[in-house]
Amino acid sequence: MNKITQLFNIKYPIIQGGMIWNSGYKLASAVSNAGGLGLIGAGSMYPEVLREHIQKCKKATDKPFGVNIPMLYPNIEEIMNIVVDEGVKIVFTSAGNPKTWTSFLKSKGITVVHVVSSSVFALKAQEAGVDAVVAEGFEAGGHNGREETTTLTLIPMVKEKIQIPLIAAGGIATGRGMLAAMILGADGVQVGSRFAASVESSSHNNFKETIVNIKEGETHLTLKELAPVRLIKNKFYHDVQSLYKKSPSKEDLMQLLGRARAKKGMFEGDLEEGELEIGQISGLIHEILPAEQIIREMIADFEIACAEKAKFEF
Ligand SMILES: Cc1cc2nc3c(=O)[nH]c(=O)nc-3n(C[C@H](O)[C@H](O)[C@H](O)COP(=O)(O)O)c2cc1C
Repeated sequence: MNKITQLFNIKYPIIQGGMIWNSGYKLASAVSNAGGLGLIGAGSMYPEVLREHIQKCKKATDKPFGVNIPMLYPNIEEIMNIVVDEGVKIVFTSAGNPKTWTSFLKSKGITVVHVVSSSVFALKAQEAGVDAVVAEGFEAGGHNGREETTTLTLIPMVKEKIQIPLIAAGGIATGRGMLAAMILGADGVQVGSRFAASVESSSHNNFKETIVNIKEGETHLTLKELAPVRLIKNKFYHDVQSLYKKSPSKEDLMQLLGRARAKKGMFEGDLEEGELEIGQISGLIHEILPAEQIIREMIADFEIACAEKAKFEF
């Protein structure tokens, strides 16, 4: 038992990060059934689609699972009400102010975790009353902080500031990565990219194949003027970089981005025109695997790495 396994009543302190267009009920329930904590990613779901995924998840697992809610969407109130209505017990909020919804969710008996990318916001989340914080470093896939603080530096700095349980995210796909984060002060880890390339991920196979073939250095954090996001360097990414050479306004960037780029890339499999979000650790992901195997291998690797302590003696 550690703080995270206790908080969520799970076997392993491994959380599958909520991921737009990737983490529906199939992935979330597979992770929960394997002893981790699966999260349904509400960010790419209309409210009624989210309700359906929650209901299917309840049928697919009797283990705890949660919902990730990026707070920047207009129908946020409806989403929150659905989560309460469906009896969801764990909510991870991101992309917004933790003060806005934490007390409402807590008043409904929900365990609340907030995702941050700096120690200043970690402290704000703690003050807002959340039960734990996810500190996500610059390496991570998806939307990210502007400051480019790496997981290696972020975790100990957040640990210095907060007393509540700490979950590390960004660049973790192996048991060794998990051990490293825990030695730095994390109580558990949130893993995104590794699960995006899982059998149960709802993303298009073109996207999954791209993840397992990608090499070190082929992602970049861009679009900082809008919402910073780490992207695979495909045609759309290069179009963005070409536009940057012309000193574009925010509106120019928004116009190029248009609507539904992430859906086009990750869900519909358009590798040229779509937005493909993935983390730096994708360079270490070589196979599309079932979620259960990902967790089993992470734990085995974690245990081997723990047993290698003698190797570090000098
Ligand atoms: C494809 C993709 C989509 C993501 N979507 C979300 C999201 O909707 N909400 C969120 O809070 N984080 C999102 N993330 C971040 C993950 O939840 C997780 O924190 C991150 O992937 C961890 O870093 P890693 O990719 O290095 O494992 C996304 C990440 C990826 C790769």
